[in-house]
Amino acid sequence: MPVPGTDVVDLRSDTKTLPDAEMRLAMSEAEVGDDKSGEDPTMRRLEEMSAERLGKEAGLFVVSGTMGNLVAIKTWTRPQEEIILERESHVYLWEGGGIAALCGLLPRLVPGVNGIMKPADVEAAISDGTNVHKGPTSIVELENTHNMAGGTAMSVRQTQDICDVAHRHGLRVHLDGARIFNAAVALGVEAADLAAPVDSVQFCFSKSLGAPIGSMICGDRDFIEEARRVRNVVGGALRQAGVIAAAAIVALETGPPRLHEDHAHARMIAETLAELPGVFVDLATVQTNIVNLELRREDVSAPSLCRALGTCDIKAIPRDEARIRLVTHKQVTDEDTERVCRVLREVLG
Ligand SMILES: Cc1ncc(COP(=O)(O)O)c(C=O)c1O
Repeated sequence: MPVPGTDVVDLRSDTKTLPDAEMRLAMSEAEVGDDKSGEDPTMRRLEEMSAERLGKEAGLFVVSGTMGNLVAIKTWTRPQEEIILERESHVYLWEGGGIAALCGLLPRLVPGVNGIMKPADVEAAISDGTNVHKGPTSIVELENTHNMAGGTAMSVRQTQDICDVAHRHGLRVHLDGARIFNAAVALGVEAADLAAPVDSVQFCFSKSLGAPIGSMICGDRDFIEEARRVRNVVGGALRQAGVIAAAAIVALETGPPRLHEDHAHARMIAETLAELPGVFVDLATVQTNIVNLELRREDVSAPSLCRALGTCDIKAIPRDEARIRLVTHKQVTDEDTERVCRVLREVLG
């Protein structure tokens, strides 16, 4: 098994981490049963632990963040309704149009600042259903941290203000909290504080928390009961799922306390980049484990920089001709970060 911190530094995503020895041991020893019939004790424990951490009544395991968002949104909505989302939200851009194809929803996009929508803009985008030409808005979708904006964290106040508007109009709010623990660490609050104003939240074990598989939807008991039915419809009910729940339990217990290290590594990389000629990094957006950089020079493009990094055993992928997203995670050590900064100075300095 590759040893974390040696050889290749993979900055493409925090989904690239490998399960550690503690996770593999927990998986091999997990007590299991048929989860579709509610008989898997390890999965039941994970769902209870997760709900408690997020301050909600109940939890439902799903195999991915995409499935978590889809199942939650489908549970809250009916076809022909409208969903309000931030213009660069993951649900809109990167989840295969599931909200249209499988939920029958019309996306109503609102631009955000660093991924965060203004409550007044959300309010202006609401369709109240009185106009026969339009479907009524039934849900607002939020993302914390915001992936495309560079891992920016939305505060409890900002979340509450949008939820107040939505709830005043009788709408539900679903939070894509794939990296909610990163947001909590960056803001110095609990994940439950960030989830308190919303009706449902999805978070991922398989990203910064370091587990190999899985996400969790949390909400009140009635919602989760209905979501369980929807999960079954999309083929997401599992059998002896405790083997993957066991790794997720380790991730939930050991992941959050070390996320500040990932944030410090991202900061170091961002500050190094910001000092290099023709490289733009908005340091204000580097709040968690993601660094978005833009090359503003003739001699190097994003693909050519990624190739150069590749020859030094540093993996990165371009977003387009000028931009690259770098992500730190559990397997990027202090030494790796120093090496990345050194190589960046050599290649771009
Ligand atoms: C903010 C956000 N939401 C949802 C997802 C989807 O997660 P998955 O890849 O597990 O489907 C991602 C994946 O990167 C993400 O960044």
